[in-house]
Amino acid sequence: MALTILTRRRLKLTSPRCFSTTSGLSSEALASAKQLRARSRIEEMDAVQPVSHHLVDTFKRRHNYLRISLTERCNLRCFYCMPSEGIELSPDGKLLTNEEILRLATLFVKSGVTKIRLTGGEPTVRKGIAEIIAELNSLRQYGLKSIGMTSNGLSLHRRLPLLIENGLTHLNLSLDTLDPFKFELITRRRGHDAVLKALDVALKSSLTSVKINIVVIKDLNDSEVLDFVEMTKEHPISVRFIEFMPFTGNKWDKKKMVESSELLRHIQARHPHVQRAPDELNDTARSWTIPGYRGNFGFISSMSDHFCSSCNRLRLTADGQIKVCLFDATEMSLRDQMRMGASDDELLQTIGRAVSGKKEKHAGMEDIDVVTNRPMILIGG
Ligand code: GTP
Ligand code: 5AD
Ligand code: SF4
Repeated sequence: MALTILTRRRLKLTSPRCFSTTSGLSSEALASAKQLRARSRIEEMDAVQPVSHHLVDTFKRRHNYLRISLTERCNLRCFYCMPSEGIELSPDGKLLTNEEILRLATLFVKSGVTKIRLTGGEPTVRKGIAEIIAELNSLRQYGLKSIGMTSNGLSLHRRLPLLIENGLTHLNLSLDTLDPFKFELITRRRGHDAVLKALDVALKSSLTSVKINIVVIKDLNDSEVLDFVEMTKEHPISVRFIEFMPFTGNKWDKKKMVESSELLRHIQARHPHVQRAPDELNDTARSWTIPGYRGNFGFISSMSDHFCSSCNRLRLTADGQIKVCLFDATEMSLRDQMRMGASDDELLQTIGRAVSGKKEKHAGMEDIDVVTNRPMILIGG
């Protein structure tokens, strides 16, 4: 049943974006076509739901998607996310309490946020996650439409039904390999079986959407791309291939990255009839389908073809900082302000200041700040 919902949801999507620069247009024409597409997407969004001016930046991007990191901890150690030397965890007292999370979430939803995604570290490591989801669910009365979670799935298969019962609707599962040996190499831990079990439970559940995230690393898991694509034959899932991104402590190297265009060519060689699928508004992924297959696959090309012009995301770190861009080290502490007794209005002013400082786009892949920005584990994907 979940499967049909996913397909139906995909059908009411917006116009496809071009995938790469193979159209033969000049770079100026491409840039202006991109701008036009971004503008028309902003107009589409305007028509959907009002957003407080505090959540609109100087480039007219409307931020209706909030990612909340629930914890800095994780039960895996993926090398692209967690520095090998580990991270310094904030003392528990510095993390947002459940009440503070709910207060901020309420403020954001009343200001126009319609989508909340819980991240980490690994969000299921946080005690009380089921209660947090239940409380967020009560924000639907103010316009919240979806509650998602990005999880490594390690401890999910038994807990997922309760999370869904409490209001979880969208699950993105990180699964970089179908090979248990490689899983251990990538995550520095065991547990491949448990993640596959979680995927199975998710596919049989009533979730509106199930996506698999694969960070593609050259000569490590790039040979599995066609196997992942094959998973979309029977299952109505979205499989997303993600370009490896540089963060503090992850030893990023351009040579380890595989550009999405290269993967697409590889898939097209096996499946010449792949078709571009429509993207959701503000989607990070550019999606494709194979005729007759139930699911789709896509590419998150943050490095080779960024999607900053349609970015609608804001992040709240586990220690209560608002972060307006994954790759911008600038942060403002809403936690400190709340603990000093700030009113909702004062918090909104701070949020507005953070949003209005958002840059037009992030730096190119080789200039990204991996010194002052946090490691991915502390940002929350
Ligand atoms: P939905 O669109 O809500 O399904 O989720 P998502 O794809 O935004 O989130 P998810 O947590 O599954 O993240 C998957 C990948 O998206 C991450 O590995 C990042 O590569 C990329 N991503 C998420 N948020 C951002 C962002 O703000 N900027 C950039 N450049 N990439 C992002
Ligand atoms: N590059 C690309 N994706 C990453 N993720 C974590 N670190 C990186 C990185 N360096 C992904 C995880 C998870 C999502 C939230 O972010 O795989 O699915
Ligand atoms: Fe944990 Fe996810 Fe980071 Fe892996 S990518 S270490 S599972 S937070």
